[in-house]
Amino acid sequence: MLPTSTRVTLDVDTKLSKSTKAVVVFVTKDGKFSGDTSLVLGSTEFETAQRMVRLGIVRGKAREVDFDLLESPKGTVRRIYVAGLGPSEKLTAEVVRESVGAVLKTLRKHRVEQAAIVPPVIGHGRDATGAQVTAEALLLAAFQYREYLDPVAAKKKESKDDADEAPLSQRITILSSASAKKAITVAVDRGRLLADAQNFARTIAFRPGNEVNPPRLAEIAQQAAKETGLKLRVLDEKEMKRLGMGGILAVGSGSTTTPPRMIVLEHRGSGKKNQRPLLLVGKAITFDTGGISIKPAANMHKMVFDKCGAMAVLGAMVAIARRKLPNPVIGILSAAENHVSGTSYRPGDILRMYNGMTVEITNTDAEGRLVLADALSWGIETYKPSAVIDLATLTGAMVIALGHEHCGVMSNSDELIVELQAAADQAGEKIWRLPVTEGHREGMKSDVADLVNSGSRDASSLKAAAFIKCFIPKDDSVPWVHMDVAGVADTEKELPYYGKGATGWGVRTLVHLAEARAAR
Ligand code: BES
Ligand code: MN
Ligand code: ZN
Repeated sequence: MLPTSTRVTLDVDTKLSKSTKAVVVFVTKDGKFSGDTSLVLGSTEFETAQRMVRLGIVRGKAREVDFDLLESPKGTVRRIYVAGLGPSEKLTAEVVRESVGAVLKTLRKHRVEQAAIVPPVIGHGRDATGAQVTAEALLLAAFQYREYLDPVAAKKKESKDDADEAPLSQRITILSSASAKKAITVAVDRGRLLADAQNFARTIAFRPGNEVNPPRLAEIAQQAAKETGLKLRVLDEKEMKRLGMGGILAVGSGSTTTPPRMIVLEHRGSGKKNQRPLLLVGKAITFDTGGISIKPAANMHKMVFDKCGAMAVLGAMVAIARRKLPNPVIGILSAAENHVSGTSYRPGDILRMYNGMTVEITNTDAEGRLVLADALSWGIETYKPSAVIDLATLTGAMVIALGHEHCGVMSNSDELIVELQAAADQAGEKIWRLPVTEGHREGMKSDVADLVNSGSRDASSLKAAAFIKCFIPKDDSVPWVHMDVAGVADTEKELPYYGKGATGWGVRTLVHLAEARAAR
């Protein structure tokens, strides 16, 4: 099994089991319960929830969670949780994810090991999206990266003080009416599949540079491929040298024992032969010191997350394979370590890239575009894709421009942006388009080579995109989107359904996009 860093199991049932310790229902701001509440709950549970609303203990505010105790005549005690969804006219899948995230965090804080939850219904009728996103948010909020904590926690077990800190295993039942059970089960399975893939991506993203380096990432990809039926192809440094990939080789040249790898995951699909694939390319800098143009010490440790673009691709490929989508999708993780050593590439070096262009290095910390450039031009030539999307924690300037809510996207195709926007909306991930122009490209001119890798500070995120654009076909015959995930790939504060650290941002958007292309 691929690691997901969660201890929550989900199932679907039509009634409360006797052992249920807690019941969760949702209410909107207008005091109406959402979902099949009256159908699935015993009357006393429902009465308790209604009383909480009537007395104003909960008012239906978004992400509000409270509970009351319900004691049966036999003396068993059950907690009845009521969670708020905000105004009913503003109820969306993302509102449900956020409210469910608040519920899961509360259940964990209260150390509730077993609960049953009535999933909210979005819109009207038999739409099971509410159940799907409930499953997604439960598992995403349950994520806790503990790979370097649990051996210690096991030793500490004897000491009572730490009982509250010990990891908690939870079983959560999603309740459904008998008639909806089939649809709800399918929806929960979909939600679980997406969240598991995203939590796998987050787990690998969290693993530090002393554990994950390019060859180790190739091993992880191999395990993922084996488990999901993806085909794996890895270009090592010798192969890349033969192919003339001067960009990725230069970036990885400071790491002689952990050299770069071009890691390719192929989903063949079951559809027509000779169908052109969707190509996903991710930046996998397993640690970014900045190289000889070294980064300041403060916060350098965060560059563990400089592989998050590729982690989104890895997670998406796992989900796409498990969903058995009929259309072909190729995922490339362009992996190198940007290190400082006697063999590192230097400022002033002039590289020859896979597509033959030359690049003058003006800053070794602008390494992401170099590993992407080789992956894109080689990937497009090799796989002849119908569309290309690259994801990268590419520029600090993107964080300054858009902050942590939106991912900046740059593209040569209005149509692909429309597609991506629809997928991002479904996923609850926010994107914002920014321009990439000939002017930006001019800002990347060099006196001694075709391009510099780093220009002046103004619009540096857009100039980075203009740099990358030089490595896709000039005639715009291949629709391309560049997604700079620097601001969204990890979070320093708790979010409604993410804890601190890697978010796995992009996995759901990519899967929804691939799915939509399969359907058309
Ligand atoms: N990985 C960084 C970008 C980054 C910075 C991501 C902060 C997340 C948070 C990237 O390799 C980098 O160092 N970019 C430079 C580019 C510059 C030298 C043109 C930057 O943003 O400063
Ligand atoms: Mn860098
Ligand atoms: Zn970087």
